[in-house]
Parts: sequence; structure tokens; C-alpha cells
Amino acid sequence: MAAGGKLWGGRFAEGTDALVEEYTESVSFDKALYAADIAGSKAHAAMLAKVGVLTAEEASSIRGGLDRVLAEIESGAFEFRTDREDVHMNIEARLTELIGEPGKKLHTGRSRNDQVGLDFRIHIAARVRVWRAALARLVGVLAARAREHRGTLLPGCTHFQPAQPVTLAHHLLAYAFMFKRDAERLDDALDRVLISPLGAAALAGTTYPVDPGAVADELGFSGVFSNSMDAVADRDHVLEPLFCASLIMAHLSRLCEEIIIWANPAFGFVRLPDTYATGSSIMPQKKNPDVAELMRGKTGRVYGDLMNLLTTLKGLPLAYNRDLQEDKEPFFDADRTVTLSLACMAGMMEQMGFVPEAMRAALKKGFLNATELADYLVGRGLPFREAHHVTGRAVAFAEKRGAGLEELSLAELREFSPLIAEDVYAVLDYEAAVARRVTPGATGPDSVAAQLGAIADWLK
Ligand code: ARG
Repeated sequence: MAAGGKLWGGRFAEGTDALVEEYTESVSFDKALYAADIAGSKAHAAMLAKVGVLTAEEASSIRGGLDRVLAEIESGAFEFRTDREDVHMNIEARLTELIGEPGKKLHTGRSRNDQVGLDFRIHIAARVRVWRAALARLVGVLAARAREHRGTLLPGCTHFQPAQPVTLAHHLLAYAFMFKRDAERLDDALDRVLISPLGAAALAGTTYPVDPGAVADELGFSGVFSNSMDAVADRDHVLEPLFCASLIMAHLSRLCEEIIIWANPAFGFVRLPDTYATGSSIMPQKKNPDVAELMRGKTGRVYGDLMNLLTTLKGLPLAYNRDLQEDKEPFFDADRTVTLSLACMAGMMEQMGFVPEAMRAALKKGFLNATELADYLVGRGLPFREAHHVTGRAVAFAEKRGAGLEELSLAELREFSPLIAEDVYAVLDYEAAVARRVTPGATGPDSVAAQLGAIADWLK
């Protein structure tokens, strides 16, 4: 082998400049793909034997050798060398050191362009399944906490102003359904991740009688590429999971924001578990929601990972371009972030201390039964616009008094409308307000029970 021993060194008279080697190598990060690379190469070797390009002995020698390489890597004995550029050439070179001649035949009928596409798809599919399991765990935790708090009321907000009473169960289930959708979105993306590009070779296909379907079958993929140029140029299988990760982070970040607000003593709706909070080095009284803050902060870096790769792809001509090597690090970064974030959120929500008394006190301050009074007046024949106005005047009066609507006497209430009678107090009751919301998906008890049932069915 000429030119500094590169696997591609035949036509080179001189070795690579050290600076260029440092600039172009990817093994320092793509070594994370070693298991996928070995699985892909074993499937490729088996296929080459099946179509008669390799003998059965050669293929079995290659597969055995690859298992030895795998064992070396997992024991820590393997030396990843930057002069061997990437994970693919590191493994292939070591294979040939171990088994000799057959190792040199492994790369027949393929290129690193289809090889890296396959490897990354194997890796991404495994990681997406981990995200999906983490989402299911979080949905389970949210549903369990919701089940505990079917009777806990708090102000539901619009414009972040108290609007109408809802149960804490209903509020938590809103997030459960977001994360369920995220999991379903991953399932959908997975269908396209599991398309094998192997057999596209460099870009145009190959003259060897390869059988891409055999490789796909051995690896548990659902299909094979339709166009060899698309197969090696495509990075949708990275971008779609990055978008899914971004949306997961968006949902987590919204929940984080609520936790941060609820933990502020002005609200006091939650007590952060000690295990998921941190103190201040200077203010002894502080218990800070750092986990939620960091998760909100890390959302930006995952969006950045998505934008990073979208920008790399923009304007790239067909087919493979070395720019595409830049697809790995954004994915690895998003993977680490989303995996840890989902685990942290599940742990934090499992242990979160909810404070129903503080939530109830907030109901009264926010006049969350004002809509009920207006609806009551409508029931007595007043047009809604007038009922709205009458109720607004009653709220202004109660506010001046520092009282809730339900604390005004019947005589006081009748000042605003003679249609009001003793039965109004039952209507102003917060529990009753929630119980009256019986429409599908509403906060009423039957709907919340149905939501819990739907989540439980899905988790099965
Ligand atoms: N390390 C490369 C990557 O990740 C592998 C493919 C390189 N192909 C090539 N023809 N240089 O994209």
C-alpha cells in the first residue's frame, strides 16, 4: 500500500499532510458506529457469498474476523487510528490484519458511500427505539400522576391568566398526549430510516450481482433503496429524527416552563423533589429548578442540531459529497440531549410534590367560576353578551371586596341581576364547574377517565 498506507493510496505518491488528516478524519466521533458497521459488513459478506461473489469459506472467515474485531473494540483493546480516517477503514484494516486475504475482499461491490448510509441508519434506528421507550416511560409517569390527581383542581389559563378550573389530571394528560404523538411520529420516521441503501455502491450501482434485499432482510430492515443516487445522497433518515427530537424538546421545554413557574413561591403549586433541585452557593433559602431550566436551555441546542444538518444539505449537488460526514455530530449531540432529558423529566415528574391547597387558593383569586355565572344567567334567559357584562360587574365588585363570587351574599348578587337565585351557589362551585364539562376531551371526570383509558391502551 502506497502513500502513508491509506486504503485508497494506490494513485498517491505522497502521504496526507498532518493538518489535512486532522481536518478530514471522522473516526474520533464516528467510532460510535462500530457495532452498526460490523453488523452491516457481516450482512454484506453473507450476501456476497449468497450471490457467488465470495466463497462460503471467505464469507465465514470475514464474519468470524468481524466478531473478533467487535470483541476487541468492546474490551477496549482496539486502537482507533486517525490515519485510518473513519470507523469503516479502521475496522476493515484491522479485519485484514486478523484474517489476511479474505479481509481484502469484503469491500467488493460496495463503497463507503452506501456503507456509511447503511451504518448510520442501523445506528439511528437503535437510538430512535431508545427514545421511543423513554417517551413511553414518561407518558406512563404522567398518566400515573394524573390518575392520583383526578380530584385536584387548579386554574387553567389562557394568555397565562386564570381562565377556567381544570383538574391537574387533565393538565398532565395534555402533556401525555403530546409525548404519545412524539412516539407515534418516531414510529412513522422509523419506516423510512429502515430502508437499506447498500448496493447503491459509490452512486451508480455496481456490476456485481448484489442482492440488496438479502442485506435488508438480515438486518431487519423493511425495504431497499429505489434509486442509487438518492440512496447515497439522502440524509432524510437523520433529519426526520432530528426534527422529532426537536419537537420532543419543545414539548419538554413547555412543561419545564410550567414547573419553573409552579415552583416559584408566588405560585407554590409544586415542591420540587430534593433529588431534582439544586441550592444556591450564596442564598441559603434557595431551591432552584435547574433541571427544568437546563432542559429548557438544551432545547435550543437540539434545534441547532436540526438547523445544522438542514444547512449542510442545502444546495448539495448529487450524489455523495464529503460535506455529508458532518451529519454525525449533530445527531450524536441531539441523541445525548434528548435521551437524558426524557429520563430526567420522567424521574422528576415521578417525584414531583404537587400542592393541591395552593392550586385551590389560586382558583378563588382568579374568579375561575365567572364563566359559570354567565352560563347560569344564559340558562335563565339572558342573552350571552348581557350575561357576560353582568358577570363582569359582579367580578369587579367582588374584586374590590377581596372576595370570590361564591362569597357574595344572594342579596349582593341580585343587585347585578334579579335572575339570580339561591341555586346559583351550586353552579359557582368549582368541582361542579369541572363536572359539567362532559364533552369529549374536556376536563370533566368521564372524559378524563376516557383519556386515561386511551393512554393505558396505548401503553400496552
Ligand atoms: N467518513 C465518511 C462519511 O461519514 C464515509 C464516506 C466517505 N466516502 C468517501 N468517498 N470519502 O461520510
